Amino acid sequence: MAKKVLSGIQPSGSLTLGNYIGAIKNFVKLQEEHECYFMVVDLHAITVSQDPAALRENSESVAALYLAAGIDPVVSNVYMQSHVQQHAELGWIITTLTAMGELERMTQFKDKSSGKDSVGAGLFVYPSLMAADILIYNADLVPVGEDQKQHLELTRDLAGRFNHRFGEFFTVPEPYIPEVGARIMSLDDGTKKMSKSNPNPGSYIALLDPPDVIRKKISRATTDSGREVIFDPATKPEISNLMSIYAECSGMTLQQIADRYEGQMYGGFKKDLGEVLVATLEPLQQKYHEIRSSGALTDILAEGAERARNVAAQTLAGVKERMGFLPLR
Ligand code: TYM
Repeated sequence: MAKKVLSGIQPSGSLTLGNYIGAIKNFVKLQEEHECYFMVVDLHAITVSQDPAALRENSESVAALYLAAGIDPVVSNVYMQSHVQQHAELGWIITTLTAMGELERMTQFKDKSSGKDSVGAGLFVYPSLMAADILIYNADLVPVGEDQKQHLELTRDLAGRFNHRFGEFFTVPEPYIPEVGARIMSLDDGTKKMSKSNPNPGSYIALLDPPDVIRKKISRATTDSGREVIFDPATKPEISNLMSIYAECSGMTLQQIADRYEGQMYGGFKKDLGEVLVATLEPLQQKYHEIRSSGALTDILAEGAERARNVAAQTLAGVKERMGFLPLR
């Protein structure tokens, strides 16, 4: 049966291979059977300071990458979070149902706020807005990487809390987290997540990195001591990470990869991985540039927002009625 699927990515810098494997690839897969909502979450991006010109550019870039990766805007709803005002309004309402202690326990907040002199309140209530994003479409499934799991658990608690206090209303969503690739690690440290906010660009593959840069970054990627291409994240985190990337971009299983490189050293494996990545990302980059120069994005985003708004407005009206807000007339 067709389910409702929702997810979002922040326009806060260049998207990485982690975003692609952990999230976008699954968006493309899920749209074949389900009713999908894929947002660019600009309201979340401003929970840390953003330069206005960069925010505009990154917002358009993420939307274009969605389409370039294969999200079909006729089948799926693709839009900017800020174009559907109901997100902010339900976000506030959900914030009032969220306990401070719940937000204090969020590891993403702890990571992002640690060592900072001043932390914006928006960063703290970020998970309540994320819950609103999901609940406002009564999404059944939320495709995300491993790092968002805790936010999904909170969303489920908040949906249950609302339903308990005001009557059954929200769908309690399920996370959709891939078995391989849910946590792509940094290329310079197999114990850290690959992230666009890492100051070392050699630690991540950006989806728009030119082919030669991709090859170079893979050839320089840190590898574990030892020689064998074996998948064992506990003892060989770095080679295991590269194998996951290889598997996700080639369609081969981890076992097939291990068999292919049995008895070989890392060099040949890394060289081939560079080519696998170029073969995956080069066509995506071509499409990306076509989409950007076509000027079609504005209309696509407007149409996606309009369809999303119709659904979101109905849910919000139901929420307000149940909570006792006076209707307009
Ligand atoms: P964001 O923008 O940090 O990341 C977008 C998606 O990419 C996944 N991801 C990864 N997956 C595997 N390996 C990695 N190294 C890696 N890095 C990032 C993330 O898990 C995520 O799925 N809070 C969300 C945005 C959001 C959202 C939502 C998501 C706002 N509202 C509603 C789902 C539903 C975030 O910051 O993602």
